[in-house]
Amino acid sequence: MSRRGKFITFEGLDGVGKSTQVHKLGEALRAEGRKVIETREPGGTATGEKIRRVLLDSATEELSSMAEMALMFASRAQHIAEVILPALEQGAVVLCDRFTDSTEAYQGSGRKLGSDAVLDLHRVLCGNLQPDLTILLDNDLAKSIGRARRRNLKAALHAKSAGKHADENRFEQQNRAFFARVRAGYEAIAARESRRVNVVDASGTPEETHKRIMEVVRKQLK
Ligand code: TYD
Repeated sequence: MSRRGKFITFEGLDGVGKSTQVHKLGEALRAEGRKVIETREPGGTATGEKIRRVLLDSATEELSSMAEMALMFASRAQHIAEVILPALEQGAVVLCDRFTDSTEAYQGSGRKLGSDAVLDLHRVLCGNLQPDLTILLDNDLAKSIGRARRRNLKAALHAKSAGKHADENRFEQQNRAFFARVRAGYEAIAARESRRVNVVDASGTPEETHKRIMEVVRKQLK
């Protein structure tokens, strides 16, 4: 299949600031006249967003790790077919907040399902689609998780006061050991695929991080 566009994914721990950076890069590339799609996983399609609600809602109790991994891939397969491949064929730059590296880090390492299962499923269900470039945002584990928890608490309080179901994130309720495994999983991916995966320091201001990302994008997408 022809791929005239560019596929760029963003990865990292919860609360590291990925969505802000996806948006900033999107704005910068649009200002240069490029067609840009910003999207996310799990989600990115109507079906995917439904799957996302099941996955993130803390009311989803006792979801098995295998079912969790299968749902991540169900969302992804739909996303690839409905959004990512059509956009790439049209020559767009697709910026995606999380992709299969998240499954390898969270389900493969965090849930201890192993990398092989994730990579096998990626081949079968996703045609082994690889990003042209992956930005792995790196920050102190405690800082990232603390930020994610505060953000979620705020969102849950807002939802509650608006009379809606407070949609907490199941993943952010995991313990420190889980996130340490996720981080180690990311480090292993970055070491194995050092051409594709660029680790970017995200400890500074959002503007500083954006500048670092722009440098990487310029170099890789020349
Ligand atoms: P989200 O709020 O989008 O992430 P963030 O907190 O980084 O902004 O929540 C997505 C959650 O889903 C996040 O905790 C990581 C998890 N996840 C997986 O466990 N496996 C996956 O394959 C994907 C795409 C996400």
